[in-house]
Order: sequence, then structure tokens, then C-alpha cells
Amino acid sequence: MMGTKRIRIIGAGAMGRGIAQIAVVAGFAVELTDVSDDAVTAGLDFVGTMLRRSVEKGQRTAQEADAALARLERGASPTAAADDVDLVIEAVVENLEVKQALFAQLEKAVPGAVLASNTSSLPITTIASALHEPSRLLGMHFFNPVPLMKLVEVIPGLRTDPDAVATALRFVEAVGHRPVVATDTPGFLVNHIGRALPTEALTLLSEQVASEVDIDRIVRDTLGLKMGPFELMDLTGLDVSHPVMEIVSSGFYGDPRLRPSALAAVRVAAGLLGRKTGAGFYRYVDGRQQVPPEPTLNPDAAATRIYVHDHPEFAAVLRAGGADVVDKPTADSVTVVLPVGEPTYRTAARAGLDASRTVGIDPLSIAGTRLTVTVPARLDPEAGRAALGVLAATGRAVTVTADGPAPVAQRVLASIVNLACAIAEQGIGRPDDIDVAARSGLGYPSGPLELGEAHGPTVVLRILDGLLDYTDDPRYRASRWLRERAEQGMSLRDSGTRPEQLFD
Ligand code: NAI
Repeated sequence: MMGTKRIRIIGAGAMGRGIAQIAVVAGFAVELTDVSDDAVTAGLDFVGTMLRRSVEKGQRTAQEADAALARLERGASPTAAADDVDLVIEAVVENLEVKQALFAQLEKAVPGAVLASNTSSLPITTIASALHEPSRLLGMHFFNPVPLMKLVEVIPGLRTDPDAVATALRFVEAVGHRPVVATDTPGFLVNHIGRALPTEALTLLSEQVASEVDIDRIVRDTLGLKMGPFELMDLTGLDVSHPVMEIVSSGFYGDPRLRPSALAAVRVAAGLLGRKTGAGFYRYVDGRQQVPPEPTLNPDAAATRIYVHDHPEFAAVLRAGGADVVDKPTADSVTVVLPVGEPTYRTAARAGLDASRTVGIDPLSIAGTRLTVTVPARLDPEAGRAALGVLAATGRAVTVTADGPAPVAQRVLASIVNLACAIAEQGIGRPDDIDVAARSGLGYPSGPLELGEAHGPTVVLRILDGLLDYTDDPRYRASRWLRERAEQGMSLRDSGTRPEQLFD
């Protein structure tokens, strides 16, 4: 099966037509099929329109577009017999019985072809179990919109023939996309990696540590993600993202790292799905997200004398803002501590400081444009207000959160890195592919293992150990992959020596 030439695409919807477009552009002959003739017509029209538009944009010549379109045809039917089809890509409705019935017919109708399913959530091995030759079937998971999302998960089932995998990889590379190989596990790679952010954000929300908009602001400004978790869930639609959380969580039999949120379930029931219903975690007016304004701050560098415990760098930031920074706490000063992996009140207590006159600053936030302040339950509000005045005088945006088991950005960071490490540990994907999957599939500015490297594996481990110690919630148990690398000074991207390498 070296030379895939002719491809049958089944399902001419959003995904099938996009796959048809990139395949004909790359030089493959494509027959587009669907149960609905109208869907095929619409799919063919769509590809024609997209290719003409690409000519107008100067991306290809009219001759190239015509040649590509000449390679695209309406197939006789999804299950028509053919001996010249090398690869079938199925993108029909997400229903196990429908896909199994279709492939059972196809294995007879197109005897020479590799059979690929674009399913986003059904187990590949289970789809293949309906076949006499399950070795011919694998997952080939594209992302929407296909021409722009340059990532494809290639998922061998447990019985898939390595030659079929090789054919799929060659096809993905030939259309100019980046394949990542994932084992046949719930959520594959991208949807598994992507569970850390929304589940931790919802946990923070349910603990009333911070509001949706504040969590989004912290995730964007401190961790550098383009979108916060709540605006992302609003964009995707909670009717899509909550079931994905449920499928991945139940697929791993309730691993607490993947725990969905009761908050989300009830919001789905209420129809608060996000952008498409005009209301989700945010409200939408004429399609525009309504963002609550930042809280009003009264910058006043002289509001109180301030003591910064054990952090000369942040003391310098405050001095630059004009603050009266003292060398040790006085009766009328307010203290700032910089907690890592613990609540602010504990950092204060360990240092013998008075929590009623102490606020926390997340040390992760001090390099960015937004300071995250944590408020211990025993804080004297007047002391807190004075501290805010001094912090606002630095000119940074300030977000104020409750005192959780660790500051917001630390919890989100540690959850993202730890889940990716657990995925690497289970061999669900290679370290490089995990990072590529998160960057291309989730739009993260850097992959989760890269993110862990940037902040330091020992810091991430310290945050997790602190969270686990405080909450006793196994959600925060560090993966072995993370712990053994942090404790031995290895990179999180290093696969390390495996026993089998001793027998090479
Ligand atoms: P869609 O609803 O836009 O298109 C599905 C097409 O399949 C329709 O034209 C329908 O007439 C046709 N169809 C249904 N049953 C059929 C059958 N038995 N035989 C032949 N054609 C049949 O769906 P979409 O969004 O393109 O999704 C297709 C598949 O791709 C699903 O498995 C979905 O989970 C998966 N997927 C979807 C993504 C997305 O963002 N829309 C992303 C990645 C995967």
C-alpha cells in the first residue's frame, strides 16, 4: 500500500468536506459520498468555493485549483464496490452502531483499502470489533476547520496492522498536516490533555476561590494562554465540553485528575451553553462577549507601610511604585507573602506573621502585567484595602482571589503539567507529540511539558505535593513521570531509559 492514490470520504459534512479539500489539493483523487445526495452537492460546492477563494487570495493559481477540483468527484455511494480505493475516511454521525454497520459493509466493498474513522470520542478498537479484519481499521482524527488545523491524531486500535498505520501517517504528511500517534484511550491525546484546564477552573469556581472572569484573566495574563477556560467553554459550547469531560473521566473509571464538575452539569440543563445560546459563563449581546469591568482600585503608594516577606525582587517592584517598604513588620504595616503550593495564611504562620495583616501575591504573577492577590479568611479588610492601594500603585492590573490551597495560576499550571506527565507515563503519546498536540490542537502557546520545564519541574512538584497535603484529594497526586524527573533533575520531555533498551 505504498502509493495511496484514490480516497473515498464518507460523510460530506463539516469534517468530510474539509478533508476532501486538503486531499485533492495534495494530489489525491477523492470520491465524496454521503447518505444524503444534497450533502454531497453542498460538499462539492464548498470545496469549489474554498479553492476559488484561495486563488483570489493568491495562495494558488487558477490552473492548480482547476486541477485539484478535477480530482474531486461524487462517489456512487458510501458502500459501492471498488477495487481501486486505497483509503476510506469515514466522517459520518458520531454513533457507534452506525459506524460499525458502515465499516462492516466497507470491508467487503473495498477489499484493498485501509479504513479510517474520524471519530472524536468512540473507541477505535470497539468500532473495529465489528469487522472480520479489524487489522484494517484505525482512527484518523482531524480537527475543525480541517484546512487550518494542521494536526491529525492517528490512533491504532489494538488489532490494527502496522502497515495501515504507516499508510495513515504517509497520507497525513502528504496533505501537509502533522500526525501525532495516540493509543486508543478515552479522549486520545488532545481531548485528554485538554481536560486539565477546564476541570481545575471549574474546581476553583466551585470552591469560590475566584470568579469566572478573574480565573480567565489570571490564566491569560499569568500563564500566557490565549483564552481563559471559561471563555473557551463558552466558545465550544458546554453541551460539547461537559460531555467530553464526562466521557474522558468515566473512560478512565473516575480518575480524580479528570473529574468533571457538578457546576457544569446543571448549567447544561439550564441551557447556559455559551455563545450559541447568548448566555454561558459570560453573557453575549449581538454575539459580543460581555466582560464585567475590572474592579476599581485606588492606587495609593502611601496607603500603608508594607513589609515583603522573603522576596527582595517583589520588594523592589513595590519600591519602584513609590511604596514605603519596611525591613520588618511594624504595628501599622501590612505584610505581603508569596506562597508556593500552600495557602497564604500558612506561609504567614510559618514565618510567625499575623495573617490578619497579611495578603499573598502569587509569585508566578509578578513577572507579568497582572498581580494576583490572595486574601486569607482572617484578613482585616482595612489592612487589605490599604495593601491593594499600594499594589495598584505599581501600575499593574490587580486580581483579588480568596485564599485557596494554592494560588489560582499555580493550581492550573500544576494540573496541566501533571496530567500531561501522566499521559506520557502511560505511553498514550510521545513527549514531543504531547506538546505538539497541545500547541496545535488546543492553541496553547507552549506544550504542557515545555510549560513544566519553563517553570521548573521541582516547582510544579512542590505545588502538587502542597495541594495533595492540604486537600487530601488524589486529584493532585503527582505522576511518577513528574516526580522522578523533578527529583533527579531530568527534563519532563526526556523519556528516560526503558528496560527494553538494555536488550537492544
Ligand atoms: P456533520 O453532521 O457536519 O456531517 C455528517 C455527515 O454524515 C452528514 O452529511 C450526514 O448526512 C452524513 N451521514 C450520516 N450518517 C451517514 C451514513 N450512515 N452514511 C453516510 N453518511 C452519513 O458532522 P461532522 O461535524 O462533520 O462530524 C463527522 C464526524 O467527525 C463525527 O464522527 C464527529 O464526531 C467527528 N469530528 C467532528 C469534529 C467537529 O468539530 N465537527 C472534529 C473532529 C471529529
